[in-house]
Amino acid sequence: MSVASRINPRSEAFARNAEHFANLLATLHERMAWAMRGGGDKLMQRHIERGKLPVRQRIDLLLDVGSPFLEIAPLAAWGLYDNEVPAAGIVAGIGLVEGVHCMIIANDATVKGGSFFRETVRKHVRAQDIALQNRLPCLYLVDCGGAYLPEQDQVFPDWGHFGTTFYNQCRMSAEGLPQLSAVFGGCTAGGAYIPALSDEAIIVQGTGRIHLGGPPIVKAAINEVVDGETLGGAAMHTRVSGVTDYLATDEKQALAKLRQIVRHLNMPWTPAVPARASLPPRFDPGEIGGIVGGNLKQPYDVREVLIRLVDDSELQEFKPEYGTTLVCAMAHLHGQPVGILANNGVLFSDSSVKGAHFIELCNQRNIPLLFLQNITGFMVGTEAERGGIAKHSAKLVYAMSTARVPRLTVLIGGSYGAGNYGMCGRGFAPNFLFAWPNSRIATMSPEVATTVLTELRKSSLKGVGAEAERVELARQTTEQFTRQSDPYYATARLWDDGIIEPSQTRDVLGLCLQLLAQGIPRVTGPSPVFRM
Ligand code: COA
Repeated sequence: MSVASRINPRSEAFARNAEHFANLLATLHERMAWAMRGGGDKLMQRHIERGKLPVRQRIDLLLDVGSPFLEIAPLAAWGLYDNEVPAAGIVAGIGLVEGVHCMIIANDATVKGGSFFRETVRKHVRAQDIALQNRLPCLYLVDCGGAYLPEQDQVFPDWGHFGTTFYNQCRMSAEGLPQLSAVFGGCTAGGAYIPALSDEAIIVQGTGRIHLGGPPIVKAAINEVVDGETLGGAAMHTRVSGVTDYLATDEKQALAKLRQIVRHLNMPWTPAVPARASLPPRFDPGEIGGIVGGNLKQPYDVREVLIRLVDDSELQEFKPEYGTTLVCAMAHLHGQPVGILANNGVLFSDSSVKGAHFIELCNQRNIPLLFLQNITGFMVGTEAERGGIAKHSAKLVYAMSTARVPRLTVLIGGSYGAGNYGMCGRGFAPNFLFAWPNSRIATMSPEVATTVLTELRKSSLKGVGAEAERVELARQTTEQFTRQSDPYYATARLWDDGIIEPSQTRDVLGLCLQLLAQGIPRVTGPSPVFRM
């Protein structure tokens, strides 16, 4: 049975919200254009004059015609390094090659020679993690100057840095997930190991180079004078050293070769058959902005969002009259079953245990979970504490953390404090996590943080000038929390897999559910359902 909508798209409030949300989307589009631009016109021109294709064009040529491309964290590094490292210099995402879902990881040589900044490494590692979780082959389109040397302490020595990308390559390959490279440009040092550690590697004649040290390093180290082509060119590596397996005369040929290799991978892969036919929602997803608006303090019924996301707007709501600040509902999305937990106010003890109970039901039935976060946190105060909120909220955290079904999270509003934890924030390793452009993420809101910090410092702020100091502390705290809870601050640092629009959300989640259905084996065995 489909749910009715109580929204009036002709109301003044709706128009106000829609306008506010449209502004948020305009900002998103502007910043996405920055990510797509790469290193700018001048460097792009130089790149093309060298006979090289822009990174996104390479990806287009690699993918099957009409394949979707689920791009991961396109706004990585936004607002960092004076905005000179668009998309963190690397494009990563999932698309179909010869009918096989693949993770594509492609350096953008127009951004500082494709070298690795902190966010580049984080994005590369995150893409590999997704590939491993979903059992996807990895296709590396390599054009990479290795570590960005001025930032070497941020990318080289630690776990999760450059070394981990190579560790992941080896481990995934050993687990039967093919690691394939096509080399399009100069790959030095770390860049050289991407093809060298791949199962098979292609190199483009004329532009592709692989060397542990380039000509200047060779001159400095052993006083040998050699040109780049002799040292690490395509012919040498394919015919003499054997570092690469195939020589391509141009980029298009290299991409065609990569497709051919994928065609013969014999991946143990079966496309997930959707549980049922995909039906569009009965209500327009384009109306979500008019419902949600941009003011997180303005309440709305989250069911109005749900019925604009799920198939046929059909929700089987669990315990609709209990713990009403958490809406729990079974639904289908692009034909795949999903169990949704969506905030509809602050989490109380009753809503927390309801959520835990619902997660157990999804576990028992092998239904993936979708958390839609719009949460200020769990209820505080004497009544809540005496009612055992700490214990009951812990049940939700425990059930969510140990769920044996895949989990997806979308920040559709506020993501504050322990609410972020209970609703499967990044720290709880959801399979995918996306954010809407109106979302906010922090331990607490700027207003609450300002009150808490000034209260905490009250005893140390005494005497002459104390009031001025208090005002300055309040100003600084509000500024800091406002800046740091911004969704672009978050996505720049890879705290999510990207900012998506409400109207794209259904398709993005549908693709994720399809990947999860085919990649993750069904868990069997006991799965108790304790009534909470
Ligand atoms: N660290 C810091 N900066 C780097 C870099 C690196 N590893 N690789 C490239 N860059 C910078 C260049 O300094 C240049 O910056 P600028 O535009 O501000 O002057 C920009 O990236 C483009 O480099 P450029 O050499 O002009 O591009 P190219 O396309 O002709 O060559 C490379 C690309 C990657 C082959 C070449 O830059 C190179 O060999 N880089 C150094 C590789 C290296 O020694 N890496 C060791 C890392 S462990």
